[in-house]
Amino acid sequence: MPPEPVLHARGLVKRFAAPSGPPIEVLAGAELTVQRGELVVIEGPSGSGKSTLLNVLGLLEDADAGEVRFGERTVSALGRVAKSRERGRWLGFVFQSFLLLPSLTALDNVLLAARYTTGVDAERRRRAMILLERFGVAERRDHHPAQLSGGEQQRVAFCRAVLNDPPLLLADEPTGNLDDANGAAILTALRDRARSGGAVIVVSHRPDAARGADAVFTLERGRLHPR
Ligand SMILES: Nc1ncnc2c1ncn2[C@@H]1O[C@H](COP(=O)(O)OP(=O)(O)O)[C@@H](O)[C@H]1O
Ligand SMILES: [Mg+2]
Repeated sequence: MPPEPVLHARGLVKRFAAPSGPPIEVLAGAELTVQRGELVVIEGPSGSGKSTLLNVLGLLEDADAGEVRFGERTVSALGRVAKSRERGRWLGFVFQSFLLLPSLTALDNVLLAARYTTGVDAERRRRAMILLERFGVAERRDHHPAQLSGGEQQRVAFCRAVLNDPPLLLADEPTGNLDDANGAAILTALRDRARSGGAVIVVSHRPDAARGADAVFTLERGRLHPR
């Protein structure tokens, strides 16, 4: 099968205003191409811009320069509504801070992924329950995020991100709050997704994440360097 680009980003520049002095340039021409079936790991010290990069790749933040393509389409230049449609079509996002809705149960948080795309039907509910089961949080289905541990919230957030089987999964330190066994389960799920034709970009420092990856990059001085 010829390579099929899922994501292509080039020349990404992102600056943040500093309280005093010149703006901080967090991304300085970052480039990344990810093909179908690839698991890409991004490492880098805290504050190096990994979350910023994922936010820009996921169209949640605009870059100051550069472009992002999903498949053949340049999506970074689209308007707000079109961007959110493309996000729904292409992306699952596991946020570093989970971003579960406090007023919804674990199950309804997972089903949020369907609410704005396919709609919630019996099949989606069944699939959501299978995911919660697989990651050991099924008995928490009716709990609200505040009643869950950080690790449980992280696993619920992961289930939400993969519910729709997105062609591209962006995962920001998805094992950061997990013990070894639960972390390994998430990494296995990421590798399985890649093996079954998805594309995955994961920020992780776990050695077992890098070992299972097709490419490992370090984010340094605003650019990705192959490791
Ligand atoms: N909204 C923001 N406003 C100002 N500075 C920000 C903002 N978001 C991130 N930064 C800064 O950008 C740098 C990179 O942050 P981040 O992308 O969160 O790094 P990482 O995920 O690698 O730890 C940090 O210096 C951080 O303080
Ligand atoms: Mg981060």
